[in-house]
Amino acid sequence: MSQWIGTSNQQYAPYAMEEIRRLVDGASFTPLSPGEVFLMNTPLDRQTVLQTITQQEPIFLRHLQAVDGTIDISGEATDLERLSDMLGAEALSFKDKRTAVHIRRHPKTAFLFSAADTKAALDAKLIEFGAVPALQDPERIIAIYASPDKLYIGFGSPRDMLSDWAGGAVRFQREEGQISRAKFKLLEAEKAFGLQYAKHQKALDIGAAPGGWTSLLLERGLRVTAIDPADLHPSLSAYPTLTYLKRNASEVKLAEGSFDLLVCDMSWSPMMMCRLVLDLEQALVKGATAIITIKLMHKKPMQTIRDVISRMSTAFVLQKAKQLFHNREEITLYLIKK
Ligand SMILES: C[S@@+](CC[C@H](N)C(=O)[O-])C[C@H]1O[C@@H](n2cnc3c(N)ncnc32)[C@H](O)[C@@H]1O
Repeated sequence: MSQWIGTSNQQYAPYAMEEIRRLVDGASFTPLSPGEVFLMNTPLDRQTVLQTITQQEPIFLRHLQAVDGTIDISGEATDLERLSDMLGAEALSFKDKRTAVHIRRHPKTAFLFSAADTKAALDAKLIEFGAVPALQDPERIIAIYASPDKLYIGFGSPRDMLSDWAGGAVRFQREEGQISRAKFKLLEAEKAFGLQYAKHQKALDIGAAPGGWTSLLLERGLRVTAIDPADLHPSLSAYPTLTYLKRNASEVKLAEGSFDLLVCDMSWSPMMMCRLVLDLEQALVKGATAIITIKLMHKKPMQTIRDVISRMSTAFVLQKAKQLFHNREEITLYLIKK
């Protein structure tokens, strides 16, 4: 038997639960923050659940934390003491480990302490145990979810939790002069799919305006062909490595085998997007990487995703489909050209 807390993007928890139900026999769910955070009980042990979930990672499950302990919140200062004591029981497992403390609070929690105060108290305890409190690249994570009446505490690695960010909420620093928030999606995809865009040479960006994705690829040293009938941000014209085709992608002809990276972020009907990308796929070399967002326009996201993947599989092999933290009503596909 094992207990877990799952998190998805706002309103997508029902889909995450549906995916998990298909993978983990006998899983049952209780909402903690409706549409987003849920408690999961399974008859299977922790290792079996982890293996099953990491092998076929659900698209809509952003974060998963095992429940190794719970504390009934009294609303008194003693809650924090009990939490510290619980860490004490695990002290040895933190020694010499870069350890992050992740705290999430339900808006109606009776737990008195802010995330910052809780973290400060637990970091001090971790130092006593010989651990190294870490914000980035932790080896161990202590994940705490403060529900209205209970603290749920889980210990694990970033891999076990599907993310090294609290609740999978990846934050990037907004830069001076950043062209669009969309840039964060491509940055997050790089991390989530273990890619390095700088290893590519020539990228094709379909639906590029105003140019957040194009700017990231240009900054990484790629030559970029950007297609969009809408205007690109004027700052991009400074790049001699940019070719801008101010047209509808359906009107463009491209030389065969000229790109090793395709990115496409058209907020458009998924099936039309498929048609456009498949019409241009011969411009990619074999083995090219493709990062594509799929807009979930309809009431049935799972069906839309299955249809798109099936269409795209004529020319691509799917590596991973994931709803990233920066995806709103959409998911991101990582594909390789056949
Ligand atoms: C969400 S925006 C892209 C944002 C971009 N990734 C960024 O980082 O700034 C979608 C873009 O797709 C473009 N688009 C939609 N249909 C298109 C088509 N058939 N051909 C080319 N571009 C298209 C739209 O003009 C719009 O600029």
